[in-house]
Amino acid sequence: MTTNRIAIVTGGSRGLGRSTVLQLAKRGVHSVFTYNSSSDEAEKVVAAVQEIGGKAIALELDTGNVASFDGFVGDVRSALATLGAKRFDYLVNNAGISDHTAFASLTEEVLDRIYSVNFKGVVFLTQKLLPLLNDGGRIINISTGLTRFTTPDTIPYASLKGAIEVFTVYLAKELGSRGITVNAVAPGAIQTDFSGGVVRDNPAVNQHVAAVTALGRPGLPDDIGLLVASLLSEDSRWVTGQRIEASGGMNL
Ligand SMILES: NC(=O)c1ccc[n+]([C@@H]2O[C@H](COP(=O)([O-])OP(=O)(O)OC[C@H]3O[C@@H](n4cnc5c(N)ncnc54)[C@H](OP(=O)(O)O)[C@@H]3O)[C@@H](O)[C@H]2O)c1
Repeated sequence: MTTNRIAIVTGGSRGLGRSTVLQLAKRGVHSVFTYNSSSDEAEKVVAAVQEIGGKAIALELDTGNVASFDGFVGDVRSALATLGAKRFDYLVNNAGISDHTAFASLTEEVLDRIYSVNFKGVVFLTQKLLPLLNDGGRIINISTGLTRFTTPDTIPYASLKGAIEVFTVYLAKELGSRGITVNAVAPGAIQTDFSGGVVRDNPAVNQHVAAVTALGRPGLPDDIGLLVASLLSEDSRWVTGQRIEASGGMNL
C-alpha cells in the first residue's frame, strides 16, 4: 500500500489546479487530477509531476455533468488502485468557468451553465467522493476575491462563488465528526488562462490589478498552489470552515 497522501484536484490541467498538483508533488503528495478539454496539457502535468519524482493520474471530467459522476467515481477507484490505495486524503474543488455577462443581458441559459459547473458540480462531486475520503482528510473549495469586492458584469459568477463559501461553512460543520476540515480559498486576480487570460495578457488590466493590490502585482498560479498545499499540510489541521483570501491585498 502507498504511504504517500493522495489528493483529488479538479481542473488540474491548467492554471491554479496545475500549480496545486505540482506543489503537492514537491511535498510528496500524489494526485488524481481532472481535465475537461485540455488532454494535452493534462499529459504535460503528469510528465512534470514525474520529473519531480511524484505520481499523478489524469482523468477526464466535466464538472457540469452530474450524470457522469458515478462513472467518474469508478475511474477514481481504478486510479487509486493504480497508486496502491483504496481511499484518498484531500479534495480540491478547483475547476471553474468565468463569465462576464452584463446583468441586463443575463439569460437562464448563462446562469444555469455557471451554476452547473461552479456550484452544482462542486456539491454533488463532493457528495459522491466523500465515501472515498479518509477520516481526518481535507477539502478545499476555490472561491474568489470577488465575494468581498466587486467588479462590473460579474454578478452570477461572484454570487455562485458566494454560495460555495456558505457551502464550505456548512460542510465543515457536517464533516467535523469525521475529522475532515473544509475551507475556501479566495484568490484575487491571477495570471492564468481564466477569462481569456485577461489578467495576464491585457496590459491595461494587468496594470490596474497591480495598482489596486497592496503587494503591487497580479497573482501568479503558484501564489495559490503554494497556499493550497500549505492548507493541506499538518500545519493547518486546526483551520476549518474558513474563507482564506489570497489576493496580495487586492482592493484593501
Ligand atoms: N484566475 C483567476 O484570476 C481566478 C481568481 C479567483 C478565482 N479563480 C478560480 O480558480 C479556479 C481555477 O481557475 P484558473 O484561473 O486556474 O482557470 P483556468 O486557467 O481557465 O483553468 C480552468 C481549469 O478548470 C477546468 N475546467 C473548466 N471547465 C470545466 C468543466 N466544465 N469541467 C471540468 N473542468 C473544467 C479546465 O480544464 P480543461 O482546460 O481541461 O478544459 C482547467 O483545468 C476557478 O474555480 C476560478 O473560478 C480564478
